[in-house]
Amino acid sequence: MSSDDQNSPSRGPRIPEHVRALTPYQPGKPIEEVERELGLTDVVKLASNENALGPSPAGLAAAHEALNGVHRYPEGGAVMLARRLAERLGVAPEQLAFGTGSNEVIDLLIRTFVRVGEPVVMSADAFVVYALITKSFAGKPVQIPARGFHHDLEAIRAAVTADTKMVFLANPNNPTGTIFGRDEWRAFMSDMPDDVVVVVDQAYYEYVDDPSYPEVLDELDRYPGLVVLRTFSKIYGLAGLRLGYGIGSAEIMQALSRVRQPFNTNLVAQAAALAALDDEDHVARSRELVRKGRALFAEELDAMSLGWVPSQANFVLVEVGSGADVTQALLERGVIVRPMDGYGFPNHVRITFGTDQENARCLDGLKHVLVDRG
Ligand SMILES: Cc1ncc(COP(=O)(O)O)c(C=O)c1O
Repeated sequence: MSSDDQNSPSRGPRIPEHVRALTPYQPGKPIEEVERELGLTDVVKLASNENALGPSPAGLAAAHEALNGVHRYPEGGAVMLARRLAERLGVAPEQLAFGTGSNEVIDLLIRTFVRVGEPVVMSADAFVVYALITKSFAGKPVQIPARGFHHDLEAIRAAVTADTKMVFLANPNNPTGTIFGRDEWRAFMSDMPDDVVVVVDQAYYEYVDDPSYPEVLDELDRYPGLVVLRTFSKIYGLAGLRLGYGIGSAEIMQALSRVRQPFNTNLVAQAAALAALDDEDHVARSRELVRKGRALFAEELDAMSLGWVPSQANFVLVEVGSGADVTQALLERGVIVRPMDGYGFPNHVRITFGTDQENARCLDGLKHVLVDRG
């Protein structure tokens, strides 16, 4: 019997090698699970870059209303939402494609453009889902070492060859929270071949306030392979409803809608997103809360002499010694943060900014944990 056979069930279908080799995505621990496991109440979750203010109230009301109609299928292409968003973004509705979270749009892009063994280029510190989905389609992730918690755009560009089908850039990136600026972006795209799909993931777009941030959406006409990703999971507070979208040429988006399932985004999510889009008060309050969180953590982490990475998103990467140990110690104090071993940062944890009380719980926990650990 070969070692391969030993890993397979004795009967039934063989799991393909590239699937067996996948490491499943490790989400942040759910609050209920931690409360059950550790016998705690009042657990605070700062582990999944969610919106601490909760869902947009307007989105939530629309979701409740939409529940009355769930005996009907949703609009396949989220037509109403596409119209409204297109107006807002200054593109045509045909330039949008929706997914069950922007995760699904990443999946659709790879499924549409990347065939077995073909390279997809990304930064080694980028959002792990790009590599995970590439591998799930038996594509070849080419992961370029980061430069001091930043995507190294020059090295990423140098890794694009005639075989490259797709490049992923996260701006801001998760888990570092860093961005690349306009000049770097321009240089990166200056001689990019037109047939490479360049995906710029802007899941945290609404939180950015660095003036050097490139508005890549304005450049869709200039670069035919450019696709921008956005989501309702973050500032709009609708992560649990799962709705994200891509913006690109009508040709690319039409290709995605050929491969997507007929009703890939649900009716409740579409209605909630449509209402949340116009909930400017919730967006402004969410942005403000994150700005306050950034300033508070900067001050407190400095006071604790901890290293941290300046962030343009709703979270911060903090150097704590053993990330796994500190995560566990914080967990026992009822605070869930995210260890970063999976990203190659075993000495860091990633902390999502919460409400004032949640931030205080976390910082207080960190102080105690670090003192206890000497
Ligand atoms: C950079 C980045 N892109 C995309 C996503 C996926 O978001 P969703 O599928 O909820 O839209 C996340 C989620 O954390 C993210 O951090």
